[in-house]
Amino acid sequence: MSPPASGSLSDDQKHALKRDGFVVVKNVIPRQVAARAKAVISQNPTRIVHGDNPAINGLYNESALRDVMLEAMGPHTPPVNAQVAVTLPNYADAVVRGKATADYAPKAHVDGGWAGLCPMPRSEILASGETLETWGRAGDPRSMGPAGGAPLWQDRERTLAIGSYTALVGVCLNDQRRPGKGQFAVRRGAHEAVEAFFRRQRADGGPLGGGGPDWPRLIPAGQDAAYAGVMPSAMEAGYPDTRFEHEGWAWPELTPVLMEEGDTVIALHALPHTATPNRSADPRVNVFFRIRRFRQNNPYEGDERIGWGVSDHPDRALNGEFLDYPDGYDPFQTSIAKLCDHWSEWDGMRGVSGAP
Ligand SMILES: [Fe+2]
Repeated sequence: MSPPASGSLSDDQKHALKRDGFVVVKNVIPRQVAARAKAVISQNPTRIVHGDNPAINGLYNESALRDVMLEAMGPHTPPVNAQVAVTLPNYADAVVRGKATADYAPKAHVDGGWAGLCPMPRSEILASGETLETWGRAGDPRSMGPAGGAPLWQDRERTLAIGSYTALVGVCLNDQRRPGKGQFAVRRGAHEAVEAFFRRQRADGGPLGGGGPDWPRLIPAGQDAAYAGVMPSAMEAGYPDTRFEHEGWAWPELTPVLMEEGDTVIALHALPHTATPNRSADPRVNVFFRIRRFRQNNPYEGDERIGWGVSDHPDRALNGEFLDYPDGYDPFQTSIAKLCDHWSEWDGMRGVSGAP
């Protein structure tokens, strides 16, 4: 794919975005803008860098990306924060297994759900009369996921368990053209199955997300533990069979997004994705922006408490605090409507067919 002409996606790129749920746009980031961000990241020996930094956010705000997204999606609060995503060699294996292994299989997820190890032992959950499937329905709606992750619920009424935004925009800052470099990988084309699943959850009375219809909140893990964040089999059953076969790529159901420095990937929130183990000798260096289309009547557009650009639950504060909303604007029902009709947030995609 070629660079964006005058800050917009080509017709071919829009077709690809519609069909696959993501598109790679090449050579969007000016070299000096990329170099400035890379300098910030490489100065930190742990590579754990916070995204509330003008050099990091400049990747979006001082490149053609903002214009591309304004045209394809529409108005939005510009990011003031970002996820700096550096995967060191063997890092993903080490984190998940406690040691580097060759057989770790990354699984794609949709952002915004409470994920990780449940703080209660399985036996305690069951003894309290709760089930693993619906755990948390009676729990404290203020709860946040492990490590400051997504909230257990988006709203006090517990109608919505999953946070959402419109587009995950990833900026590539080094050579990731060869599969196995820790690529951002996707379940290509699965975005429509995810939307269909959310529609069924809504039709069944909700709540939407983990703990709702056909989506067990917890699955058993280890001796007496339980784990959240796995996509439900009822959702995965609808994924199309899109495969990527390549030597050195061990997970054919996932498509690695192959990019080089200055390239970007634009993906729908609904597209299941994951980091993958980095089996090269170099770090994998990306920066991700979570962008949500501007919502009329939302009083928190631009409010720094939201963490615009990094948050996957922008209807609550980044730290999980509930926010007050005016009568006449229900952020949670709005988000449910968008989860069930994701193209309604893409002004520039109207009339684009998904045919190859
Ligand atoms: Fe994610």
